[in-house]
Amino acid sequence: MAKLTTSVKAIKTELSKVKDNALLIGFFKGKSSLSPALKKLDKRYGNVISSFIKSHDFKAEKGENQRIFVDKGIKNIILVGLGEEEKYGFDILSTIIADVSKRLRDNKIESFSIFLDSFTNGKFKDEEAVEKMALGSLIGLYQFTEFKTKDKDKIKFVDKVTIMTSSSKNFDKSIGYACIVADTVNKTRDLVNTPPNVATPAYVAEYAKGLAKKSGLKCTTLDEKQIEKMNMGCFIAVSKGSINRPRLLVLEYNGAGKGKKPIAVVGKGITFDSGGLNLKPYPYILNMKDDKGGAVAAIHVIEACSKLKLPLNLVVVAPLAENMIDADSYRPDDVLTAYNGMTVEIKNTDAEGRLVLADALAYTADKFKPEVIIDIATLTGASLVVLGYVGTPFVCTDENMRKKLNNASAKSLEKLWELPLWQEYDDSLKSDIADIKHIGDEGEAGVITAAMFLKNFVNDVPWLHIDIGTTVWSKADKGMLTKGATGATVRLLIEMLREWK
Ligand code: BES
Ligand code: ZN
Ligand code: ZN
Repeated sequence: MAKLTTSVKAIKTELSKVKDNALLIGFFKGKSSLSPALKKLDKRYGNVISSFIKSHDFKAEKGENQRIFVDKGIKNIILVGLGEEEKYGFDILSTIIADVSKRLRDNKIESFSIFLDSFTNGKFKDEEAVEKMALGSLIGLYQFTEFKTKDKDKIKFVDKVTIMTSSSKNFDKSIGYACIVADTVNKTRDLVNTPPNVATPAYVAEYAKGLAKKSGLKCTTLDEKQIEKMNMGCFIAVSKGSINRPRLLVLEYNGAGKGKKPIAVVGKGITFDSGGLNLKPYPYILNMKDDKGGAVAAIHVIEACSKLKLPLNLVVVAPLAENMIDADSYRPDDVLTAYNGMTVEIKNTDAEGRLVLADALAYTADKFKPEVIIDIATLTGASLVVLGYVGTPFVCTDENMRKKLNNASAKSLEKLWELPLWQEYDDSLKSDIADIKHIGDEGEAGVITAAMFLKNFVNDVPWLHIDIGTTVWSKADKGMLTKGATGATVRLLIEMLREWK
């Protein structure tokens, strides 16, 4: 079988000495003059670059790229347009590197080099540019081939990416960080993409156990009986309709010693969401294997934290269940009792995520007394209405966390936008017969009312809720995205935890 993983390294070298299948050189729009290093390269290759720029009208528009066949030490020189320098930033850099990497792979180029100096300008730190380049390639080149059995040896892939620079800085740290982040993002995509007949709650729990063993994390899984014993009435009810029994997964990383309160990350882990008795109609039932995206992201975030040896304590709690139909399924109009004793009136069995999270959040707050709770969930279809496929909506009860999140969002290039938790939204969750109803008024502020419901279960612990209902999945192969699972929030949360104080 073909080796599909890509390795990245950064080396100091003189351009004219490079030997590779391709060399990428970046140009800003309207700035086609060659730097001294490029002049030297141009001369070595018989002025092929300067004459190509003149004769082919290369404008260096963003995304434009032109290939010059030279077939000497370097086989192809690729001129890459970076667009206007004033608008250039890490988002454009990573997107362009990801797109070009894919194109080269599709053209069967298994190794290529990037001339770092031409992709940076005064605004960037070289270390950060190297990190973003490596991430662009490694995340952009992701493909999910696990379930293909034919012609595996014909799958195209990039074996090696080399970042060339004249700088004598050491880039080991940047590359090391990018490799850990890309690996965890891509493993998240693999598991989210794994079909629901394979990735059952028990399978995900076993997978996490395997990761925990390798990374030295503490792993505990509770089975149905134990979940029931702990009075998680909402979680159990959701799990009832499936032959694939639930698990409550708990992973713990201790990087700051015993005295320090942990940060808790709770992830929704519905391995398939049929909607239950409120069955999702076709085509909305498709892709519902991605409903475990929050749990799977959380599992890989804690793995990354342990690999990066971050000085903090972290606990991940993931309720894993399948929302299916059976004689034993929970129903609309049922009243359930949550872990914290609250009674919850059910109105739609397709709003199952908030129920498994209600118990998981209350359990986390009670058992671990965390400093903060972050939950990640493919919670609502309404998230598509709010920000489309571009960004992820979140709510937050704490100014400090809000700041941390916004910083991490800018650095990780994952776009998020906050929605308010105004008291008025609470009215729609009033129940005639129980303490609370689990859904609000149809078609009205669905992301917020779902969050308002969850807020009842966090015991006033500073809380951040991220709704990845839309951004967990990509319809297109574009930039760093590959059609399918995106690994949403993995880069964001690693970035947030990396800077945690
Ligand atoms: N898992 C879905 C949310 C979802 C829908 C994610 C589409 C990704 C794509 C969730 O369990 C759900 O079905 N939510 C309902 C809630 C409603 C019944 C109040 C929704 O958003 O329609
Ligand atoms: Zn649902
Ligand atoms: Zn769901």
